[in-house]
Amino acid sequence: MQEQLYFAKKKLRQSRKITLNIPSGFSFNRGDSKNFNPVINFFKWDIKDCPVEIDFTGCSSANYQALSLIIPYCWHLKQNRCTISFKLDNKGDQSSSQMWRLMGSLGLFSVSTDHTINFKGYSKEKPLFAIRNSTDFKEALDAANEFSEKFGIEYQKTLRYVLAELLYNALEHGKKDFHYRGRRLLTPAILQYSWYERANEICIIVADIGVGIHSHLAQAYPGISSNEEALRLAIQPEISGTFGRHDPYTNRNNAGMGLFLSSNIIRKLRADMHIVSGDTVLHISPNDLTSRQLENKWHGTFVLITMKLDQGNIFALDQLMQELREKAESEVKSRISQQKDQRHYLEIFNYFGRNADDKQAAISYRDKYLLKAIEEGKVLVLDFGNVDSSPHSFLNALLASPIRRLGMQAYKKIKITRATPEIRETLDYVLDDNTSPEGVNQAKYDD
Ligand SMILES: Nc1ncnc2c1ncn2[C@@H]1O[C@H](COP(=O)(O)OP(=O)(O)O)[C@@H](O)[C@H]1O
Ligand SMILES: [Mg+2]
Repeated sequence: MQEQLYFAKKKLRQSRKITLNIPSGFSFNRGDSKNFNPVINFFKWDIKDCPVEIDFTGCSSANYQALSLIIPYCWHLKQNRCTISFKLDNKGDQSSSQMWRLMGSLGLFSVSTDHTINFKGYSKEKPLFAIRNSTDFKEALDAANEFSEKFGIEYQKTLRYVLAELLYNALEHGKKDFHYRGRRLLTPAILQYSWYERANEICIIVADIGVGIHSHLAQAYPGISSNEEALRLAIQPEISGTFGRHDPYTNRNNAGMGLFLSSNIIRKLRADMHIVSGDTVLHISPNDLTSRQLENKWHGTFVLITMKLDQGNIFALDQLMQELREKAESEVKSRISQQKDQRHYLEIFNYFGRNADDKQAAISYRDKYLLKAIEEGKVLVLDFGNVDSSPHSFLNALLASPIRRLGMQAYKKIKITRATPEIRETLDYVLDDNTSPEGVNQAKYDD
C-alpha cells in the first residue's frame, strides 16, 4: 500500500516536470555590443516543487560566461525544492553541452553542499570557481594570478585588484543562504573567466543570487527609488551599503571604493564593464555610461568584464590608483559641499518623535526652516524612518504651504523616504490636495 502511494506520488511529480530549453544562441554577444535579454529571459525564477530538465540540445552556440549563470540558477531551483536534470548531447567540442562539461559544471550540486570541494574543470584557460569563504577567495585569486602572468605584470596586478573587489562584493553583499539537510550554508558566488586567444580578449564574470545592489544600498540610502539610481550610486566613491561593520579580510579601510576604483580602472584600460542587478544593466566604458532596462530580472548581481589585451595600453597600476584616489577625494569633497548647499534634510523622528503629531512644532519648523529652504531652491528630504504614525493635521501643517509655494515642482523638490504606507498615503493626499486648483485656493487650511 505504502509502496503504491510512493509510486503514485512519484508519478504525479514526474507529470509536473518542466523542461527549460536553452535557446539556440545563448550568449550576451551581439556583434560589438551586448544584449543580456536572450540569456536573462531563459531563467524562470518562480518554479517550485517539481522536476526541472535543462535541455542543452537545441543550443547551437553558447558562451562560457552566459552558461556559468545557469549554475547559481540551479542552486536557486534546488532551494525551491526542484530536482534538476540536464539533457546534453555529444555534438563536439564547440557545443554548449561540451562547454558545460568542460567547466566542471556537472559537479554543481556537490559544490553547493560540501564547501571543501570546488569545480573540477578541464581547462586552465576557461576555469570556474565557487566562492563561499576566504579560502575560495584566495585560491581563485591565486589561480587568476597564475593565469594572467602571461599578460604582463601590470595586467596581472590589475586583474587581481579588480577581481578581489568583485569577489569580495559578491561574498559580502550578495550573500544568500543555502539550506541543506537542516544546515544553513551559503549559496556560493561564482567566478568564470576565459581567454579568447584569437581575439586576444579576456572575459570575466562574477555572479551572485543575493539581494541585489538596490536592496543592499538602500540600507544606507533609503531614498533610492530605482535599480538604475542604485547602480549609478554604487560606482561613486565612498558610497557603501555596509556601515559600521568590520571588514573580515583585511583592514583595507576602503569602504565604498571598490566599484569606483574598479570601474575607473576598466575605463583606463579601454575595457568594458557591465553591472547587472535586478532588471537593470549599467554599462561602463571609456566613452559610455548608460543604463538599460532588461526584459526580465536577474535575481542578484553579476558583473561582466571584457578586456582586449595589448591595445598599446601603457599604464602603471600603482600610479593609476594614486590618481584615482585623488580624484575620489575631490569628488567626495565637492559632493559633500553640494549636498550641504542643495538639500535640506529633516529626520522626522529626531525632531518630532515616533508619533509625529505636534502640530505647533510642525508650524514653527516650517516657518523657521522649510520655507527658507524652498526660497533658496533646495530639495527637502524628509526621512520618516522609525516614525510609526503621523496624522493628517500634522503633515498638513508642516507641508501645505511649502507645497503651494512650489506648485507642481513639489513632486520633484520634496523627497520622502522610509515612510510607512499609511504615512505615505496621507502625504500623497496632502500633496495632491495642495497642488490641485481647489487646494491652492484653500489657504485657510494653511495652519
Ligand atoms: N554583489 C553585490 N550585491 C549587492 N550589493 C552590492 C554588490 N556589489 C556592490 N554592492 C553595493 O554597492 C556598494 C558599493 O560597493 P563598493 O564600491 O565595492 O563598496 P564597499 O564594498 O566597500 O561597500 C556596496 O556597499 C553594496 O551596497
Ligand atoms: Mg566592495
